[in-house]
Amino acid sequence: MKLCMIGTGYVGLVSGSCFADLGNEVICVDINKDKINSLNNGKIPIYEPGLEEIVKKNFKSNNLKFSNDLPNSIKKSDIIFICVGTPTKKNNEANLKYVFDVAKTIKENLNKYKIIVTKSTVPLTTGDKIEKILSSKKNINKFDVISNPEFLREGEAIRDFNYPDRVVIGTNSKKANNIMKKLYLPLIKKNNRYFHTSRRAAEMIKYASNAFLASKISFINEIANLCEASNVDVKDVSYGIGLDQRIGDRFLRAGPGYGGSCFPKDTKALVHTANKFRTDLSIIKNVIKSNDNRNNHLLNRILKIQNNKIKNKIISFLGVTFKAGTDDMRESPILNLIPPLLKKGAFIQYYDPTGSKEILDKYKKVTYKKNVLDLIKNSDLVIIHTEWNEFKQLNFKKMIKKRTNIYDLRNLYSPTEMKKNKINYFGIGR
Ligand SMILES: NC(=O)c1ccc[n+]([C@@H]2O[C@H](COP(=O)([O-])OP(=O)(O)OC[C@H]3O[C@@H](n4cnc5c(N)ncnc54)[C@H](O)[C@@H]3O)[C@@H](O)[C@H]2O)c1
Repeated sequence: MKLCMIGTGYVGLVSGSCFADLGNEVICVDINKDKINSLNNGKIPIYEPGLEEIVKKNFKSNNLKFSNDLPNSIKKSDIIFICVGTPTKKNNEANLKYVFDVAKTIKENLNKYKIIVTKSTVPLTTGDKIEKILSSKKNINKFDVISNPEFLREGEAIRDFNYPDRVVIGTNSKKANNIMKKLYLPLIKKNNRYFHTSRRAAEMIKYASNAFLASKISFINEIANLCEASNVDVKDVSYGIGLDQRIGDRFLRAGPGYGGSCFPKDTKALVHTANKFRTDLSIIKNVIKSNDNRNNHLLNRILKIQNNKIKNKIISFLGVTFKAGTDDMRESPILNLIPPLLKKGAFIQYYDPTGSKEILDKYKKVTYKKNVLDLIKNSDLVIIHTEWNEFKQLNFKKMIKKRTNIYDLRNLYSPTEMKKNKINYFGIGR
């Protein structure tokens, strides 16, 4: 099939190249000229394991093309996926400007029947609004607008695409549903994970999923606070409750709080939508509050670990992204930790397997180190911020030169082992 992915970011580039790998003809379009130029020159703009190979292979075979020419790419394609960003507005609403801009361009270029798919995370009734934009006498019978929310996780995106837990298609059009089923057939034929529903339900499923996962994270983080105060290990508690199949053991790891490009914005947008429908989502509201408070909790713990001595101390972060396997810095918890620590006079250093980060360049007293040893050898406090594999078996005893404190926000190490090695080690909820 001939597909056009509009927006060549994490979602558009990953799903576009994976669709191409299944034998479809895919054009990935973006308004960002530098991004398209670098992709046409074989440079992948994001870090996502396995992505580079798939992009290069399908670019070479001509199944995958990159372009800035939106009108022509739309005209040439049968299915148009909208994959642009839906960031948070000041009032917490999802900003749909990019989605509607795209819809207006699609309207002008509907030369034959096309399926318009929202893959971007968009609030309830966005599909209705896109349909309204596209509708005109000229366009009658030329399109179906459907919702196909994306559930990929950064760091695991290729695997998630190829082995989806579910493919959700929201549409009342039999024709569109049949075409989408055919498109996804290679991924769904092994199991029955194709779910056809109404467009509004599909839009809601995406937000409800993210809000539920965010709630699970905040739930275990609050239990961790209680564990910390009562000398119980939250890892044991997570394990013990996760054995109950009604609960499940995933998303029950206490940590620095949820971040990234989805959970923070989607929980807020869901509450905003609910307000429009005069519905009180009190649980989600408190999840957002709880996650916002996480930062204060971590800062207080840092002060306690350091006996309030922060001024002129070297504080080193292992990992800066919101999770392992990605270079995405959007809403990473570290972004709220660095400013108050700098204000208290700390020198901040960091190392991340995906390299230095532009967003941290603005701070004079924040420096990037090229490897773990350089980073931690002179530190007063080492904070394990991201759960990258390369941080899981470090020989701290050999690496640190003084009585360095280690604060492990991911509980990667055993407190007993650390104690045996006379290392000042602190975890989350233990
Ligand atoms: N990142 C994830 O893990 C993830 C997972 C599931 C769903 N989503 C959702 O998917 C959507 C996209 O997320 P992302 O992380 O890929 O965003 P992104 O910021 O990485 O990419 C969006 C791209 O759209 C481009 N763009 C903006 N306006 C455009 C236009 N008019 N024409 C062409 N291109 C345009 C931007 O230049 C950018 O490259 C969001 O709604 C997000 O919530 C993201």
